[in-house]
Amino acid sequence: MKTLLVTGCAGFIGSNYCRYVLQKDADARVIGLDALTYAGNLSTMHDLKQNTRFCFYPGKIQDDTVVSGIIQAEKVDYIVNFAAESHNDRSLLNPAEFIQTDVAGVFTLLDATRKFGLRRMLHVSTDEVYGSTIDGRFTEQTPLEPNTPYSASKAGGDLQCRAHHIAYNTPVVVTRCGNNFGPWQYPEKLLPFFITRLIDNRRVPLYGDGSQVRDWVFVEDHCSGIHHVLEHGEPGQVYNIGADGEQTNIAVTRMLLELLGKPESLIKHIPDPRGNAHDRRYSIDASRLKSLGWQPEHEFSASLECTVKWYSSRQNWWREILAKPDYQAFIKRFYGKYLGEDL
Ligand code: NAD
Ligand code: TYD
Repeated sequence: MKTLLVTGCAGFIGSNYCRYVLQKDADARVIGLDALTYAGNLSTMHDLKQNTRFCFYPGKIQDDTVVSGIIQAEKVDYIVNFAAESHNDRSLLNPAEFIQTDVAGVFTLLDATRKFGLRRMLHVSTDEVYGSTIDGRFTEQTPLEPNTPYSASKAGGDLQCRAHHIAYNTPVVVTRCGNNFGPWQYPEKLLPFFITRLIDNRRVPLYGDGSQVRDWVFVEDHCSGIHHVLEHGEPGQVYNIGADGEQTNIAVTRMLLELLGKPESLIKHIPDPRGNAHDRRYSIDASRLKSLGWQPEHEFSASLECTVKWYSSRQNWWREILAKPDYQAFIKRFYGKYLGEDL
């Protein structure tokens, strides 16, 4: 039996990954660690907690005592790190927390991997560390040119992995994936934010003309890519994860209107709140990971339809979040001046 420490297990991708591993590998135990920030929810782990091969610890990844204690008590073999402050818009308001988790936290996990001689650590980075590209595709050799406090913090953690491998031979691998979508995503990111607002016939704030491009990946493909890298990747290497899912924001918004049967008048173009920090286009070349035998299995429009159905049928989960004071405070602070009484 192998034991994985999965950090950020109460968030969107981390919780999906725990489900994926427990279902795929009967020989795996999953130890979850999560600080339960605004983005981490106990209700997201409700089904996981029924599984006897899953166990949860609350705590921060930058807390060395917590991390070392869990590794020793649970005889951890692998770390898969999802824990992060993950929202670009929040990073423009409060960048300091991003440095603590996305840089210092990664360093603590790397040191623990070395100190306890773990078999491997996988760090989940992002394509946003590359910055923006007008017409090229990001390969793993593309220079890192992050443009927001979030993506710069992620680049910091990502480069700590590189240095730890070079300096200490720490067995770490890094993945960089595009924008994810699917079940259990916190309703502040584009897709769940817009889907939940449209269900309630509220207008959706599209930044600028909506011509920015994101390279979308269904969350299950991200999870299978991560697991493939954990099992087959070469220590010290970086692997892009992508599914040829490029779409403009306006095109995605119109698909949502169509799927939900809502009028175009629910789109509200607002002045771009990210300004110069808004990356225009992400585009991922995932050929290095494909050469290891991995392929994405989910096509964008069919997965988008499944995602819309999921949010339509799981309203209890997201309405509980929408009712929380910290969610309402963020929406008011960030969108208040643009949405006015539509808030
Ligand atoms: P999320 O915000 O939904 O979840 C993050 C989780 O980490 C939350 O449960 C939160 O409570 C926890 N957390 C935050 N700070 C912590 C700390 N100091 N210690 C322990 N736990 C902490 O994020 P997500 O969308 O699931 O993203 C997961 C990872 O994948 C992140 O590292 C993110 O950078 C990366 N990523 C995300 C996307 C995307 O589109 N969402 C794409 C590529 C990469
Ligand atoms: P987001 O989901 O925040 O992810 P990221 O910043 O990591 O790409 O945003 C995706 C795109 O959608 C991005 O170009 C910004 C845009 N966007 C809007 O137009 N309106 C919104 O309310 C949000 C949250 C995002």
